[in-house]
Amino acid sequence: MEYFTLNNGIQMPKVGYGVLAITDAAECERCVLDALEVGYRLIDTAQGYGNERAVGSAIRKSSIPREDIFLTTKLWIAGFGYEKAKEAIQGSLDRLGLDYIDLLLIHHPFNDVYGTWRAMSEFYKAGKIRAIGISNFYADRLVDFVHFNDIVPAVNQLEMHVFHQRPKELEVMNKHNIQAQAWSPIDRGSERLLSNPILKAIAEKYGKTIPQVALRYLVQKGVSVVPKTVNKKRMVENISIFDFVLSDEEMNLILKLDTGKTTFFSHEDPKDVERLINMIREY
Ligand SMILES: NC(=O)c1ccc[n+]([C@@H]2O[C@H](COP(=O)([O-])OP(=O)(O)OC[C@H]3O[C@@H](n4cnc5c(N)ncnc54)[C@H](OP(=O)(O)O)[C@@H]3O)[C@@H](O)[C@H]2O)c1
Repeated sequence: MEYFTLNNGIQMPKVGYGVLAITDAAECERCVLDALEVGYRLIDTAQGYGNERAVGSAIRKSSIPREDIFLTTKLWIAGFGYEKAKEAIQGSLDRLGLDYIDLLLIHHPFNDVYGTWRAMSEFYKAGKIRAIGISNFYADRLVDFVHFNDIVPAVNQLEMHVFHQRPKELEVMNKHNIQAQAWSPIDRGSERLLSNPILKAIAEKYGKTIPQVALRYLVQKGVSVVPKTVNKKRMVENISIFDFVLSDEEMNLILKLDTGKTTFFSHEDPKDVERLINMIREY
């Protein structure tokens, strides 16, 4: 595994394993144990995924030492605000059954993110969280957030894939030394990705698959990725991207696939924002 160094000096694996929508506890445990076995060292969960208990249980059962595993979780909107966030963070630690969280993210840029950040900062300073970050902060909110907080987020996790490359956000993140991390890095295995002729030609040249080229592209640009699959063979496929290097010409060809549009939802679209806020549930 290769690592990125975050702005507070800690090391984060370049490729992680995401567990969104793996809601059955036994299946989630099996997936995390398989992922650790095939070489993943970063597990990406969230309060909103409803599987922190299963993830923590798998980490405790695994033979991989805790300090070799990088565990990310995210605070759900319902637990935002200084007091509520303190309870919510402790809730995650309890459900995970772990002494510390490696990376805690604010899941969405809504509600009282400033009070939430103060609570996260206290747990960070107390050594209960090794790095704190944000998710789904677009360029304008990123600038605002960086300027009015003492601690600069270590990571911003965003929808990012070959069809949505986020140049504006990357520019702000590079300026402030915030590590970019891509969610849905293979566009959820979409048909338009799996049948793209440019990606197909590049994949054939290297004897790789299209998802591997799509993931390699992001990592080569300095972006961490957290692909999800329940399939052990695909787990191996998605992590096997460190034995080839895309040329400048290939990087430029893939750059042109950017549509500048989300596949899923926009944190700038009032309808999408309302939909997300209506999803508020306690975990
Ligand atoms: N911060 C946020 O707001 C946010 C939002 C969304 C996601 N995330 C995180 O990002 C992770 C990944 O995102 P995602 O799950 O939305 O999308 P993704 O990783 O781009 O794609 C996952 C989908 O692609 C399929 N797949 C995986 N590997 C494949 C391969 N090699 N070939 C073909 N199909 C493949 C999977 O199916 P199978 O499982 O059947 O293999 C699954 O349906 C999540 O699990 C979560 O941890 C964060």
